[in-house]
Amino acid sequence: MACMSSRLECFAPASEITFTINEKKYTVSGDIPPGTSLNTYIRNHANLRGTKVMCHEGGCGSCIVAVRSQNAFTKEKSTYAVNSCLVRVHACHGWAIKTIEGIGNKKTGYNILQTRLAQMNGTQCGYCSPGMVMNMYSLKNDKAVNMQELENSFGGNICRCTGYRSILEAFKSVAVDAPPQLKNKVEDIEELHKMKSCPNSGMTCSWNSNDDYGEDDGDDSNEDFVHVNVHGAEIEQSPKLSRIHLNLKNAQWFKVTNTKEIFEIFDKVGNVPYVLVGGNTARGVYRLTVEPQIYIDVQDVAELKSYSTDSTLTLGGNLSLNDCINLFNTVSKTKYNYAYTEILARHIDLIANVPVRNVGTIAGNLSIKHEHPEFPSDLFLILVTVGATLTIGELLHITLSCVLSIKLMNSIRGDVTILSELHKMKSCPNSGMTCSWNSNDDYGEDDGDDSNEDFVHVNVHGAEIEQSPKLSRIHLNLKNAQWFKVTNTKEIFEIFDKVGNVPYVLVGGNTARGVYRLTVEPQIYIDVQDVAELKSYSTDSTLTLGGNLSLNDCINLFNTVSKTKYNYAYTEILARHIDLIANVPVRNVGTIAGNLSIKHEHPEFPSDLFLILVTVGATLTIASKGFLYRNVSMIDYLDMDMKHKVIKSITLPQIDDTYSLKTYKIMPRAQNAHAYVNAGFLFKLNKTAKGKVLKKPIIVYGGINPYFVHAVNTENFLDGKNLFDFKTLQTAMKILDAELKPDQVLPDASPTFRRRLASALFYKFILSLSPPGLPARLLSGGQDLVRPLSSGKQQFDTDKTEWPLTKPVPKLEALAQCSGEAQYINDLPALPNETFAAFVLTSVGQGYISDIDPSQALKVPGVLKFLCAKDIPGLNNFTPVDLPSFEEYEEVFCSGEIKYAGQPLGLIVAETQALALESVSKVKVEYSNVVHPHLEMRDIIASGDKTRIRVEKEPDAVKKDVPDPNEVAHVIKGSFDIGTQYHFTMETQQCVCVPTEDGMDVYPSSQWMDLTQVGIARALSIPENSINVKVRRIGGGYGSKISRNSIVSVACALAAQVLNRPVRLIMSLESNMEALGKRCDIAVNYEVGTDNSGKVQYLKADFYENAGSSWNEIMVPDSVSFMTSCYDSSAWKVRGLGVRSDIPSTTWCRGPGSTEGVATIEHIMQHVAKVVKKDPLQVRLNNVSSDDTVILQMVKDLKVSADYDARKGSVDAHTHTQELSTITATFQNNRWMKRGIALVPLKYALAYAGNFSALVSIYAADGTVAVAHGGIECGQGINTKVAQAVAYTLGISLELVSVKPSNNLTAPNNATTGASITSELCTYASVQCCKELLKRMEPAKKGLKDPTWPQWVQAAYQQNIDLCATHMYPYNDDVKMYDIFGVTVCEVEVDLLTGRHQILRVDIIEDAGKSMSPEIDIGQVEGAFVMGLGYWLTEYVVYDPNTGKLLTNRTWNYKPPGAKDIPIDFRVELRKNAPNPFGVLRSKATGEPPLCMSCSVLFALRYALDSARIEAGKPDEWYQMNLPATVEHIFLTSLTNIDLFTL
Ligand SMILES: Cc1cc2nc3c(=O)[nH]c(=O)nc-3n(C[C@H](O)[C@H](O)[C@H](O)COP(=O)(O)OP(=O)(O)OC[C@H]3O[C@@H](n4cnc5c(N)ncnc54)[C@H](O)[C@@H]3O)c2cc1C
Ligand code: FES
Ligand code: FES
Repeated sequence: MACMSSRLECFAPASEITFTINEKKYTVSGDIPPGTSLNTYIRNHANLRGTKVMCHEGGCGSCIVAVRSQNAFTKEKSTYAVNSCLVRVHACHGWAIKTIEGIGNKKTGYNILQTRLAQMNGTQCGYCSPGMVMNMYSLKNDKAVNMQELENSFGGNICRCTGYRSILEAFKSVAVDAPPQLKNKVEDIEELHKMKSCPNSGMTCSWNSNDDYGEDDGDDSNEDFVHVNVHGAEIEQSPKLSRIHLNLKNAQWFKVTNTKEIFEIFDKVGNVPYVLVGGNTARGVYRLTVEPQIYIDVQDVAELKSYSTDSTLTLGGNLSLNDCINLFNTVSKTKYNYAYTEILARHIDLIANVPVRNVGTIAGNLSIKHEHPEFPSDLFLILVTVGATLTIGELLHITLSCVLSIKLMNSIRGDVTILSELHKMKSCPNSGMTCSWNSNDDYGEDDGDDSNEDFVHVNVHGAEIEQSPKLSRIHLNLKNAQWFKVTNTKEIFEIFDKVGNVPYVLVGGNTARGVYRLTVEPQIYIDVQDVAELKSYSTDSTLTLGGNLSLNDCINLFNTVSKTKYNYAYTEILARHIDLIANVPVRNVGTIAGNLSIKHEHPEFPSDLFLILVTVGATLTIASKGFLYRNVSMIDYLDMDMKHKVIKSITLPQIDDTYSLKTYKIMPRAQNAHAYVNAGFLFKLNKTAKGKVLKKPIIVYGGINPYFVHAVNTENFLDGKNLFDFKTLQTAMKILDAELKPDQVLPDASPTFRRRLASALFYKFILSLSPPGLPARLLSGGQDLVRPLSSGKQQFDTDKTEWPLTKPVPKLEALAQCSGEAQYINDLPALPNETFAAFVLTSVGQGYISDIDPSQALKVPGVLKFLCAKDIPGLNNFTPVDLPSFEEYEEVFCSGEIKYAGQPLGLIVAETQALALESVSKVKVEYSNVVHPHLEMRDIIASGDKTRIRVEKEPDAVKKDVPDPNEVAHVIKGSFDIGTQYHFTMETQQCVCVPTEDGMDVYPSSQWMDLTQVGIARALSIPENSINVKVRRIGGGYGSKISRNSIVSVACALAAQVLNRPVRLIMSLESNMEALGKRCDIAVNYEVGTDNSGKVQYLKADFYENAGSSWNEIMVPDSVSFMTSCYDSSAWKVRGLGVRSDIPSTTWCRGPGSTEGVATIEHIMQHVAKVVKKDPLQVRLNNVSSDDTVILQMVKDLKVSADYDARKGSVDAHTHTQELSTITATFQNNRWMKRGIALVPLKYALAYAGNFSALVSIYAADGTVAVAHGGIECGQGINTKVAQAVAYTLGISLELVSVKPSNNLTAPNNATTGASITSELCTYASVQCCKELLKRMEPAKKGLKDPTWPQWVQAAYQQNIDLCATHMYPYNDDVKMYDIFGVTVCEVEVDLLTGRHQILRVDIIEDAGKSMSPEIDIGQVEGAFVMGLGYWLTEYVVYDPNTGKLLTNRTWNYKPPGAKDIPIDFRVELRKNAPNPFGVLRSKATGEPPLCMSCSVLFALRYALDSARIEAGKPDEWYQMNLPATVEHIFLTSLTNIDLFTL
């Protein structure tokens, strides 16, 4: 049957989905491949590149966007954050998505969150900033957030630059409970309002302020009108007129939030033609012949979107038709006299189609009727029929009006038959049949009627599937796949029925693939987001949760229910546990069933949900075909065949307070990490009768081995026993220890740790029950570490006479970064004809490539080329040995002999990024002579293999070669080993190359343009002058992009040359981590002779550094010299050696050499202190070089400002009863919670090197100034410092100075940006240019009386003075090297029963000279220190010992610090009154030295652990502690084990 009417839409299942991005509607149908993420869509299809991407697995937060959608069950709309990298674009139907561009920008004015983050120094490289802002935006959008909630909600957002303090503070300033000092701080920030000014009106955009998240505050004061010219009509416009006002071409767009604003606009526009924009769908009926000049977007006017069901049913004029349907469907069931509205709902369901009804509004429909009486408006018809009335809002004296609301008559009964027969007109153009699935009942439950199911055949990748128009609400034919969006479980089973054995997936939040990547995309996707029953919950008698309730909805529900239902009070504990799963954006969409399904498919997955649900004895209701429901226990579920089954719901039992419940999750960092071990305990106890166990208890663990759930033997043993009886405890612990059998799977933590931890958690649980008579010192063992709200203090000097130099200003680019306007390499707009490339990597660590066969990859449509060593016309090398730091060639593509697993051997070039990445695995590589790689430095050192060990630096001559034996009271031998660190730049290595008429434009994410240029020229055999390198900024470097970007850029350029097309090479996180070198690991053997005071009399050491697979960039000579720090090294003989191993060639990493050198000597000092039994601080001071008086003074100062002595006293009181050295038997204080404190001094000898150019141009017409320099802006604020210095030198305001992207035309042959010196040297070169310009311009002053800057410039121009100057450092330059000083106090608290710790407080005094830009320098100090914390505490790198492949290559298993890992109290002071006589403009560098002081955390931890070990029965002596000091290593060092557990 054909469609009956051209006027009525035919209701075939929609074959496209629609959503909005920043209020713009997008439609997606089958042409978008099934795996396409929302992120790819936003960036590549909507071309909005403010949203970033890095990990593609929900682990970094750079891709977060805000979504507003309706909950299928509650029907409530809410705004929430999602990781756009995990969301499939086809799952976005009906969503309103906001990206960073949509909440504020240069044109419309910035959002308060963008300005706050920028003003408060919360952005450095800026790559994380859009994600940070959008996470905050989503949090704050629906409700007022307090500081605690806020601080808890950034676990999924990684920032590698800032150290988080500034970000948290910026956002806390808009929290409801922001303290006055924080608010004042905001007000104190200079020029604040200028950053918020609206470019349209030139005024502060008040909609950007805090209250704009709420409703109209009714405050009409201060309405300042400005005049805006609209196409000839002059309109008075107030910044308060509307929330957004855009000057469009020939028109104005107002987005209003209340009707008052509408009338104000009416008032101003007079007779200028206007239109109210509801859903803007009317123009689909009657095309507009003339565009109006005024658009008033009323979508955000709450009153027009509202409804009231009180006595009469009143609908807001702009309620959408679908909202109206939903409302009618609800009201008809609950209000007797409005039962009839169900009929209206059914009629409205026949209007247009779902997308139109989603946005199309009642008033819009009636307005069409008003304007075009011939229009057969269905709404008009039904409203007339039921006698509805309209309330029209009118502006006095003017006849403009808008429909405010519609009142429906009461008392019409459900027997109205006006709409009969209408459904017959709904025949489907696809099937030619009546689309009964579209009729009302199909959105409800199964009607049991299976008749009339007329199927059509759809071919899915060879499998023939019968498909019915009844199958789902939306079905899309994707490439090789089908997408169904269903609204009830019946539809799911119908699809199952049809698809047979074709692989399918239910799409909940689609976050599971952030954990286990999909290797093969399924062919059937069933989007269950809109299945109300799966999203539902019931709190009636038992608590039942729909299978696909999101984890965050679950938290909220538990938090409510626990307060209202006595027997569910326990769910609060579950909520707290779920809060530790993943992060906010993942939990917003990730569902219970999704989580449990991961566990089902991968039994080794330490699912937290599974754990807690088993602990409380929850059951699952599993639905299968034919509406068969089966209730199963969590354990039985694991063994079920889940094919074509659905987790319908989860039922939680009632548990009263006679039960004790506790769950634990111990993980590598505070948030967003999976558990090493998680545990749940549920006991019914008689607490008075020695804790008699009244019922078989529940003891459950995750993370032990794939099949371990219950500690069955221990449960059985304890049944009926007295839990608080010491002997019972001992026996139970032994039984438990025996039945815990953890497996060993790298890179997971060791079995020993996991077994002991599991026992310790059970003991911790028992302590938490406060057994009667428990000694006070054991009590805190039962408590968890409680992290209060973090805070910080920053102190610095500023000299107003030099402003803008020394002025605390936000970064020049801060706002652009916080609004997504700042461009990174991959944000370059799509280029015509562009292609995408991805590396193919070796999978073995040592051997030879015998054959490469790319044929399978090349067969994939869209794959264009495979390139390998033989395709390189010039040198197969990216490390030209005539440039500094390189002594051997490293190959771009492995030509035969493999140096390490992960080495690039070729490049796939394809039409899309996804294709390039997918096709890499299709290149078949054959290897020969494969042998075990040499990975462990200690093994290589022990082998003595001369081909792998090389002396890089002989010891310096010492005063006395043979120490005086009378002065040597102690001979101390030891070693110090520390592993590597991944840079974790939020922007991976990337490059875009574009062939041009004179060669090639190259956009590398490089810290060293010259290397890029030379590398490409040599490899491609083309002249250097044909290569144009340009770098605007990079998204974090920390040394990784000095030399290692070169391989990426050379490979990219080769592809561009071969294909003669633009090529984009964006490294995936995995290949970035596997292919490229990291910080060098070190191993030091030392012998030190000291007197009784700990003063070193001699020191002999061999300092080994892992060079990796080449001898390039060996840093050990630097490490050895940095080891000196502030100490007297006249008797030290330290030899530096390089070790060659089969891992990627190691490279510079923030504080390279210095971090390792300083930590080594501090480790030795700590060792000495232990042996000579002196306070470590005293030993340090005893060794300070006699000429280092500055450091002594700084130590004194910090001891006072940090209140060090008193705090050390209270640490001792908390942790040790007596001086450590005299501790013997009795300990009264905290046995299981220890504290430690340490003070570490630093002298950092800064060396200048390299060439750095600057070019300064002054523009005569307005006096503005542009600067280009040879450094790279990587977040360190180089551009801001340069601009401040230029403005200061020229005597002009900062606003007149602009810093341009760096390029190799104005800065040829320049050195790398690194070693903390580039900001200073580029500033220096720029200042020299300015001085030269001032000199040249001086004569032009003659004849001018007190000229303004523009007048003076103009006069110079008139006299043909060259207003462009260049300078290159070093050129007759007189800056000298200097020392930087710093002192840090760090205090920690350690939970010995878990190995977890928290950093209670850090105080740093850093010597920044006379800081050129104090806010920026504070940011450098904080960021470097926190990066150091990661190095020492959480960032653990593991290689496969057999293949050499990197195993920690994802955010899932590599853990840089998160927002809740930073010091709780973080105080940084830039040393006052300390101008630098030698450096540039009296300042000092700050980028790297603070990282050297982060090792203080190790010594604070040691202080705490010293006490633990003594109490475990060890003598008070030195011990080795494996590094990084992960939770595992801390726990094992503390010696916690079952023999120590007492009551
Ligand atoms: C960064 C990150 C960190 C994480 N950390 C943790 C952690 O620390 N602890 C932890 O426990 N988890 C963790 N997770 C896992 C997270 O909880 C799950 O990804 C999430 O709950 C999965 O839900 P989903 O709806 O997104 O599942 P989806 O990805 O949509 O689906 C996953 C699987 O579930 C199936 N499925 C979905 N719904 C149903 C249903 N109703 N019936 C039957 N099968 C169904 C699908 O077919 C699919 O096979 C983490 C995830 C990420 C991304
Ligand atoms: S890119 Fe999405 S979370 Fe990292
Ligand atoms: S500013 Fe956060 S990652 Fe660089």
